[in-house]
Amino acid sequence: MAANTTTMETGTDSNNNLYFPPKDIVRKANVKEYETLYQQSIDDRESFWAAEAKKLDWYKKWDKVLDDSRKPFYKWFTGGKINIVYNALDRHQKNATRNKLAIIWEGEPGDVRTFSYHALNREVSKFANILKAMGAKKGDVITIYMPQIPELVIAMLACARIGAVHSVVYGGFSVEALAERIHDSQSRILITADGGFRRGKTTHLKAIANEAMQRSATIEVCITVKRTGEECYMENDRDFWYHDLMLMPLDCKDCKTEVMDSEDPLFILYTSGTTGKPKGLVHTHGGYAVYTATTHKYVFDIKAEDRWWCAADPGWITGHSYIVYAPLINGATIMMYEGAPNHPYPNRWWQMVEKYGINILYTSPTAIRGLMRYGASWANRHDLSSLRLLGSVGEPINPEAWKWYHEVIGKNRCPIMDTWWQTETGGFMITPLPIMPLKPGSCAKPFFGNEIAIVDDHGKEVQQGEEGNLIIKNPWPGMARTILHDPQRYVEKYWEKYQQQGWYLAGDSARQDADGYYWVIGRIDDVIKVSGYRLGSAEIESALVSHPAVTEAAAIALPDDLRGNIIHTTVILREGIAPSDKLADELKEHVEKEIGPIARPAFVIFADKLPKTRSGKIMRRVLKAAAMGLDTGDLTTLEE
Ligand code: WT7
Repeated sequence: MAANTTTMETGTDSNNNLYFPPKDIVRKANVKEYETLYQQSIDDRESFWAAEAKKLDWYKKWDKVLDDSRKPFYKWFTGGKINIVYNALDRHQKNATRNKLAIIWEGEPGDVRTFSYHALNREVSKFANILKAMGAKKGDVITIYMPQIPELVIAMLACARIGAVHSVVYGGFSVEALAERIHDSQSRILITADGGFRRGKTTHLKAIANEAMQRSATIEVCITVKRTGEECYMENDRDFWYHDLMLMPLDCKDCKTEVMDSEDPLFILYTSGTTGKPKGLVHTHGGYAVYTATTHKYVFDIKAEDRWWCAADPGWITGHSYIVYAPLINGATIMMYEGAPNHPYPNRWWQMVEKYGINILYTSPTAIRGLMRYGASWANRHDLSSLRLLGSVGEPINPEAWKWYHEVIGKNRCPIMDTWWQTETGGFMITPLPIMPLKPGSCAKPFFGNEIAIVDDHGKEVQQGEEGNLIIKNPWPGMARTILHDPQRYVEKYWEKYQQQGWYLAGDSARQDADGYYWVIGRIDDVIKVSGYRLGSAEIESALVSHPAVTEAAAIALPDDLRGNIIHTTVILREGIAPSDKLADELKEHVEKEIGPIARPAFVIFADKLPKTRSGKIMRRVLKAAAMGLDTGDLTTLEE
């Protein structure tokens, strides 16, 4: 295929599976050309990022754009003073943006709340004052465990406003996952809700939080938002209702936004790795603000009048970067929806796109595949003509789902931005721009400033078209700075493999085609992606082993048409305990209770032994082949 992807062609026709953007989008795009600008950003990375940083408001300008004196602990905009919340809220109060909608929120039962930039700023200010009154100080870690309601965003911003560090734990996680994250961060304050609505039912977050607080004793103050109104246990001197506190006749003055160093931590976000213990990745005020705002503005072509819907949960990095921070910095209107995409009917999302006139929709391949199952008629009932751009994230999107999304939702006129990135990267790393020809299933090209390569285990670039390790050759402002309390692990996990070259190891395998487009294949480590959610085999295994009937367990991913992967587990029972279907169900239930519904194994298989290497490492490859009925391959390293 001699696809000419570098010279700009326009039109919506697809040719050899190349999709060209509509002329109108190209004409109005925030970035009109890629190759030259990309080359400039590589030749002089620091100037590129300095120019973007200048578009934000700083209390004091930085001395140095990039400090690489302590590799791989890079620092950006050192000496600079900034607060991301000043850029997301305060600065918009001085112009017409103050009257604009910052958030349009719809609850699953159909209740709607909206906040102008002015109102959001006021709520954040009020809650920030309350946090201070509760003893929160700059640098404290505050855990947030909430459903997708506006107070979640308010809580995050209130923390950042006073210089506290938020640690949001996804509301779909359960007791052990929450307790572990509270414990690791030693946070003293927890912000939660009684529950939320999901698929017509209520979740019971406060009950889970209560149990987690018993397991991890650091929490002294717990603030609960009333969402479902269901009864929940509140402990004297520890538990407070959010609405009671917000009525307190506290000083109503604006809470001053704390002046932060560029490199001061903004948040911790835990993500799964190859061991049982989740990693608390640390992101900062300065570089993260610059990186998320820039990627958002250029990749999704954000305009002042846009209504932007990132249909992720704020509890994941996608939500942190692209529901909360980048859109607010860019002054866009954010759409948020609390519940399930198919409740009460599979047209729920399309109905909201029509009702609110959404211009850009950013979601995951799993969500697209899930809605695709119901057929086009649900989408076709609605006027989706407000949509201009679409996006995908979380796992590779199969071309079939891409084409459905493009045709049925985008009516063949909305380019799809398939953005590859990670919790660790803070923002988009490999992504198309709206002006680029697209290939279904490919995340296209490196974002400005980034040099990507596909290499073998020795660091040699593989042949074009061949699969290899995806690496990043350079630092970027949005990169996670370290793992909380464990800088050594940060070095080992991401930088040790290609230490000599100084490259970042992403943990994904990928290939690059003749046009320079990247195709991500999947994880090369023991991270499992279920419906785009990231879980570690070891986390699932340790949840299983925490059950009294189990002595050993192994978890692997099996491919699944809808969810990308499902979890398959093999367990070894304690002496004298008999396998049964009932026990298998109980174990699935147990994992769900400890980690959350997303971690629930699809299969629990009982065995007498696990295949292990002589050094005792579980050979997951063998389990996987066996579970899929494939040849188990080379078994020479198997113990016996
Ligand atoms: C892993 C990171 C970053 C937001 C959500 C996920 C996979 C992510 C894509 C994509 C193929 C993708 C990778 C990556 N991934 N986006 N567009 N195409 N794979 O963040 O939970 O930290 O997971 O998600 O495997 O390593 P995360």
